[in-house]
Amino acid sequence: MLINDTDFIKFPLHIKGKVRNVYDLGDKLLIVVTDRISAFDVVFPNLIPNKGRVLNSISEFWFNYTKDVVDNHVITTDVSQYPEEFSKFKEELQGRSMLVKKIQMVEAECIVRGYLEGSGLKDYQKTGCICGIKLPSGLKQAERLPEPIFTPSTKATEGHDENVSFQILQNKIGSDLANKLKDISLALYNKASKHAESRGLILADTKFEFGILDGKLVVGDEMFTPDSSRFWAMDEYQAGRAQKSFDKQFLREYLETSDWDKKPPAPMLPEDVIKKTEAKYIEAYERITGKKLD
Ligand SMILES: Nc1ncnc2c1ncn2[C@@H]1O[C@H](COP(=O)(O)OP(=O)(O)OP(=O)(O)O)[C@@H](O)[C@H]1O
Ligand SMILES: [Mg+2]
Repeated sequence: MLINDTDFIKFPLHIKGKVRNVYDLGDKLLIVVTDRISAFDVVFPNLIPNKGRVLNSISEFWFNYTKDVVDNHVITTDVSQYPEEFSKFKEELQGRSMLVKKIQMVEAECIVRGYLEGSGLKDYQKTGCICGIKLPSGLKQAERLPEPIFTPSTKATEGHDENVSFQILQNKIGSDLANKLKDISLALYNKASKHAESRGLILADTKFEFGILDGKLVVGDEMFTPDSSRFWAMDEYQAGRAQKSFDKQFLREYLETSDWDKKPPAPMLPEDVIKKTEAKYIEAYERITGKKLD
């Protein structure tokens, strides 16, 4: 079943993102991952079959895989354990949704980078640093960093994220909490990137969002999905150029040949781009979890 939207759910919306619809259930949230796809911050009119199930299941896998590192917000992904009102939507929701504890989100995006790309690359080219961390000179695009670094960002006034130094993060949220976020973020990245490498994937960088529940630090949102992380195929990796996005390579390649100006509305995608993109998402799921998507 393809899901574009979830208007059948009558709970108040907590937030509607580009891909996920999040509902407010009081002390809990229901996160539903739709089959929408975006690029350059714009959502496309087409849906990608199985994308919602894949993203939700990848997150679920990683929350479970890292629970010895830090507690997470997951309650269950089993619709029969959701509040009674959802039982009639089992077919729509099973596999693509997660019931989670509502937590008090810490106002920081906790980013870890093991490779030089994205806003990190831009900052490095301008200043030789990322978030105030001095890096060796002469690093190439997509090169592996001497060691993974914690590069937090916060919401700037215009709504765009802004990389900040660790000092600024400490001033904002306190040094105890900032230190904890840094240590846990690096530990999560190290554990996950080892696993990814054993499956032929490079986890170039990733973003976490943490929150507090009953005084304890909990990781929330999504974890090591292709939406929150850069995954690259190890056998095609080569520093000194942009890498193919593991999941969106066919979409991006298609858009490069089209004359779309990257402003909404996004164009309709051809069937073969949709099919190849679906196959990449399924491949990501199967490589990461070692399971077949049923
Ligand atoms: N357990 C939780 N408790 C409270 N809020 C949470 C929890 N988990 C995630 N969130 C919040 O839910 C929101 C999810 O939004 P989502 O990422 O889908 O959309 P977005 O960030 O607005 O847009 P985009 O589609 O660009 O990511 C985020 O604001 C995140 O901080
Ligand atoms: Mg988000």
